[in-house]
Amino acid sequence: MAQIIVTTREGSDITLPAKPGLSVMEIIRDGGIDELLALCGGCCSCATCHVYVDEDDIARTGTAGDDEGDLLDSSDHRTAASRLSCQIAFIDALDGLKVTIAPED
Ligand code: FES
Repeated sequence: MAQIIVTTREGSDITLPAKPGLSVMEIIRDGGIDELLALCGGCCSCATCHVYVDEDDIARTGTAGDDEGDLLDSSDHRTAASRLSCQIAFIDALDGLKVTIAPED
């Protein structure tokens, strides 16, 4: 099965099984990492699922769309690597994706 690697705010790397059809947020949440609040449940309206995509993976995930970008603008911690993990649909081509959970706003 495909996997993603998640770096927590404390710096621990956790490898999680990743199923196509889920968002990266759902994979992280289902993997039991509760520091990713994802308060809106994936509706692109809260920005509490903010992650940084590893520099080497940005070409695979793409960058934020307009609505997502507007929401990320509300974060004090936005960088060029920022994405809302609920807006990254996992596909097998993203196997090995590395993301880091952004600091809480
Ligand atoms: S879960 Fe709310 S914007 Fe992603």
